Amino acid sequence: LWTTANIIEENIRLVREKVGSDEVILGLSGGVDSSVVAALLHKAIGTQLTCVFVDTGLLRYREGDQVMAMFAEHMGVKVIRVDAEARFLAALAGVTDPEKKRKIIGGLFIDIFDEESSKLTSAKWLAQGTIYPDVIESAGAKTGKAHLIKSHHNVGGLPENMKLGLVEPLRELFKDEVRVMGVELGLPPEMVYRHPFPGPGLGVRILGEVKKEYADLLRLADHIFIEELRKHDLYDKTSQAFAVFLPVKSVGVTGDGRRYDYVIALRAVETIDFMTARWAHLPYELLDLLSRRIINEIRGVSRVVYDISGKPPATIEWE
Ligand code: XMP
Repeated sequence: LWTTANIIEENIRLVREKVGSDEVILGLSGGVDSSVVAALLHKAIGTQLTCVFVDTGLLRYREGDQVMAMFAEHMGVKVIRVDAEARFLAALAGVTDPEKKRKIIGGLFIDIFDEESSKLTSAKWLAQGTIYPDVIESAGAKTGKAHLIKSHHNVGGLPENMKLGLVEPLRELFKDEVRVMGVELGLPPEMVYRHPFPGPGLGVRILGEVKKEYADLLRLADHIFIEELRKHDLYDKTSQAFAVFLPVKSVGVTGDGRRYDYVIALRAVETIDFMTARWAHLPYELLDLLSRRIINEIRGVSRVVYDISGKPPATIEWE
């Protein structure tokens, strides 16, 4: 019978058969696909799995801690967390062009992942969250690692220094099947049904140069936005929602006088395929509440705007 439980059992059997008693490395990003692979492999091979989680400093509010709490503490998965915020910020200093930022973030991510995984000298296999749409998209690409790079980091080419076999247990599955599998494996539905998050992370949601100060403000605003969407039961009705940091100062006035602070843009869209999208017609009362909370609770923000652009002509992300 073709049930999710059976697909999981079959996958576990195949993985065990393939890797035997060898050790396996997995790049864990906190996204759905790599998380489901982590849960599946943990069930299949336990401590033979080591995950490498590169914290770029460009993740959402407390996301790094959540990944560690979920996998390392709660599930007992072996996870090496690499705190690479300083390296990413240094590499991005002075860079304003969106495509350059993407290349820098993607390239550095791969370098750090390779540095860490080459320390795990006993590993024989590299596991990846490649899903069926990635297989079609990267048909013709030479290595499986192309997936990691192409889908998440938009850069090509990778040094072929790691001679690892590939384990890609989700290769035949579509995203919705991967989600069902994740829930069946015990991952929390809020994580499995999270909105998509781009590989370059907040790096492309801070317009122009990326600075820690900006990332910290953006994380707070984004967190308030998502928290209120969930509270108002609108999170699952929007396809993607997030805050964008605009490095422009605007005048504001509060009880203690005038302020001259940054602008946050809120973006929420409804879409089926992310190729075209409609801006989400969020209730005015919610937008009002969001603007008040963000300006009152975050020192450094004096104005909130809502993006009413469709795709096309605008893209979903601002960069
Ligand atoms: P755009 O902005 O092109 O976004 O309308 C369409 C979808 O793709 C996501 N996106 C990215 N995902 N790396 C990714 O992994 C990227 O560089 C990237 N840029 C955009 C975006 O979040 C949306 O879901």
